[in-house]
Amino acid sequence: MKIAMVDLKKQYATIKDEIDSAVNEVISSTQFILGKQVGEFEGACASYLNSKYAFACASGTDALQICLMALDIKPGDEVITTPFTFVATAETIALLGAKPVYVDIDEKTYNIDVTKIEAAITEKTKAIIPVHLFGQAADLDPIISIAKKHNLYVIEDAAQAFGTEYKGKRVGALADAAATSFFPSKNLGCYGDSGMVFTQNENLATKIKMIAAHGSKERYVHEILGLNSRMDTLQAAILNVKIKYIDKWNKARANNAKLYSEKLCNANVVLPYVADFSNHIYHQFSIRVQDRKGLQEFLASKDIPSAVHYPIPLHQQPAFKHLSEGLVLPVAEKVAKEIMSLPMYPELSAEEIDYIASSIIEFVGKK
Ligand SMILES: Cc1ncc(COP(=O)(O)O)c(C=O)c1O
Repeated sequence: MKIAMVDLKKQYATIKDEIDSAVNEVISSTQFILGKQVGEFEGACASYLNSKYAFACASGTDALQICLMALDIKPGDEVITTPFTFVATAETIALLGAKPVYVDIDEKTYNIDVTKIEAAITEKTKAIIPVHLFGQAADLDPIISIAKKHNLYVIEDAAQAFGTEYKGKRVGALADAAATSFFPSKNLGCYGDSGMVFTQNENLATKIKMIAAHGSKERYVHEILGLNSRMDTLQAAILNVKIKYIDKWNKARANNAKLYSEKLCNANVVLPYVADFSNHIYHQFSIRVQDRKGLQEFLASKDIPSAVHYPIPLHQQPAFKHLSEGLVLPVAEKVAKEIMSLPMYPELSAEEIDYIASSIIEFVGKK
């Protein structure tokens, strides 16, 4: 049995007619930039998340950078975030000349440990970026109350959490601003790169929109410095089709996670933990094992792929480590050594999960 880590071909086969016709419509219209599908998709996202504003852009990375620029994050500022995330979360902070200040993670959820945030705040701190890692919400309420107390902004990095709910409300619309990604392998993925910025604040909305369009409201008048960050009409047309299926797909992922957890409940692995304040949409199904390399090689010999999200916490990444010299974050460092992700997508079959789980048990044994 040959299994894919993510099988986008299987998904395309289920919606081929709708996608092909949406793509053909854009090509026939030749409105490749800022076609009507972009505004339609912004509207669909705003209503799905119950967000006042939603602005499409070129990637999740740009979405983060646009949020930070709209909040005037400058050289010398500090932004608190998690070390256990995709590089873009902190890369964008550093690109603006600010300093990412890492707070260790919670060993169960792998999200930022809210009990350690306050100790990291200094007079230079301007914002906090919690990441809803792997599809589970960070504990937003305490983060938002700490931010209010210290007059800081909160930007949600919701790149892995389209449809995740925190205390019954969809993440992405719960803080000052939020960024998400539609990278092809995301729960809601397009056929290239694109992203979205969300905000509930009118002044920020005006700035976000301008920054994504070269700092301009009126053609050829540039009031502030901005970026060229647009979502292609083709991607918006594809996403307009795909967003209709997101709840069904997220449920299928959760069902697959349940099957994995049932089969692996006695295995010598640490399974994903779901906090009571969040649901989990399993962008990744990640387990922890002692002999990760051994298990990955054993699975590969049986045609089962796996991946490591993430092998190096950001405070140890060569590109940034000079910004966090001497910093030790024991939980993130431990988790980074043990974590590995298993194949996860809505179309993964029960038979495939059974095969993967039995192969894992064959290698790690039972508790
Ligand atoms: C947590 C997180 N933040 C930001 C990004 C950046 O998104 P993109 O790849 O669309 O630039 C990603 C995507 O991989 C991500 O997982």
